Amino acid sequence: MPDLYDEVPYPSLPRPQSHPSRIAALAAIAGMTPPPVSRWRVLEIGCGDACNLLPLAFEYPKGRFTGVDRAAVPMARGRDMAAKLGLANLELYEVNLLDWKPNGEFDYIIAHGFYSWVPFEIRDRLLALCATALSSGGVAYISYNALPGGHLRRYVWDLLKFHTSRAASPRIRIEKAHEVARLVAALPVDDPGRAAIRREMENVLERGSEAIFHDDLSETNDPVYLMDFIGHAARHGLQYLGDAEPVRDDVRDLPWPAEDWFEARQYGDFLACRKFRESILCREQIPLRRVLSLDRFQALAAASRVKPAEPQPDGAQKFELSQGRSLTTNHPLVKDVLCFLASRWPGSVPVTGLPLGGYPPEDAADMLMRLVEAEAIEFWQQPPRVAMAIGERPVASPLARFQLSLGLTMVTNQRHQSIDLPDESGRLLVSLLDGTRDREALAAAMGRVAPGPEGAPADPAAIERALQVGLQEMLRLCLLVG
Ligand SMILES: C[S@@+](CC[C@H](N)C(=O)[O-])C[C@H]1O[C@@H](n2cnc3c(N)ncnc32)[C@H](O)[C@@H]1O
Repeated sequence: MPDLYDEVPYPSLPRPQSHPSRIAALAAIAGMTPPPVSRWRVLEIGCGDACNLLPLAFEYPKGRFTGVDRAAVPMARGRDMAAKLGLANLELYEVNLLDWKPNGEFDYIIAHGFYSWVPFEIRDRLLALCATALSSGGVAYISYNALPGGHLRRYVWDLLKFHTSRAASPRIRIEKAHEVARLVAALPVDDPGRAAIRREMENVLERGSEAIFHDDLSETNDPVYLMDFIGHAARHGLQYLGDAEPVRDDVRDLPWPAEDWFEARQYGDFLACRKFRESILCREQIPLRRVLSLDRFQALAAASRVKPAEPQPDGAQKFELSQGRSLTTNHPLVKDVLCFLASRWPGSVPVTGLPLGGYPPEDAADMLMRLVEAEAIEFWQQPPRVAMAIGERPVASPLARFQLSLGLTMVTNQRHQSIDLPDESGRLLVSLLDGTRDREALAAAMGRVAPGPEGAPADPAAIERALQVGLQEMLRLCLLVG
């Protein structure tokens, strides 16, 4: 039987939260001593076309990267890309995880979009592999659909599967799934239950066809409670360190007391109706510190892409976060730290350089963690190589330039994020930024490639303006290398 991942390609993207430097930062905050960048050995299970591993292998040539996936077509795509990029530090194995034995240890094991989508035998093998192949100070990142939010999603999965069960091909299944999702989303909403269902269907419609096919119509789709995941890990001698995705639930303000740190998180999931987790595991022998301490932040770098709005008359400050969210605060420490980091974006700042002076260290540590949870700050073990200003001869990410040369419009930036460049002039600019051209040469090259109306010479002032705007945008998008 053909592998469904061969028949319908999965729309894989790099997962910023799985970046070893970010996982290492969270491990350090929990009291671990993660391996230094120069020694990274990274394994990804169910890596698809290796689009998460390729940028890492490219950016960290001294690291060793290994990917495992049983689907032939995405693997071939990954190998082809690795060969074109000349990567000698990436090995890709096309094999069923059940039949694969690692030769050596790994400091980071990543499995994104895998655990709850595969039968129990395979997810159990994943944890058994973590137990045997993680280095003593290593950490595993495992994402999965979570309960109780998975109950809501299960309604959608069951309806979509029921409606598409007689479809003769993947293409027809996808069409029928779209059809029913559209129809349900358009039904009048006259009670809160319907409203929740409509939201779920709208979420489905926001995903592309291929993601619907593999994520919502997947044969196996078994979301788990955090406590069950923790229990499963414990049976393999692994312990739960925390989550890579910031936790947006209210574990700090539970309406009733929790027995311990773990139970608080499970209650948080109940109250937030959490649907997805990106959990980090390490060996059970490692003593983790659940009480935050500023010392453990000190070796890290912080970055924040918040945008401060005008201060409000009462002194409160609003910050725009991603995805239309915002944070408004009156807390002087939060205001100082976020304004300081925003002024340094796209650069990162050593934690030792943050304006934390005058505050008790435990309050500062607590505030920093709250900002991580609010997705207002991210920490890195080693800051990414991002330009903080536009240089004389700016250099755009060589990987992004390579991706554009293949005709792609989605590129990977220096923070391991996917950036869509739908505009041809933006793509042209990135392609030109190879470090050989100053502003004059860039303007001349842009004028040659994009002349004015009806082939007339382009207006030099208009080109200069477009160049300035374009460079600023590439800087903001972390596409320039520092
Ligand atoms: C949902 S995709 C996720 C791909 C990628 N990690 C991502 O997030 O874009 C799941 C991947 O797991 C792979 N897979 C599923 N079962 C597997 C098994 N038993 N052994 C190896 N790979 C498997 C599939 O081929 C597929 O590429």
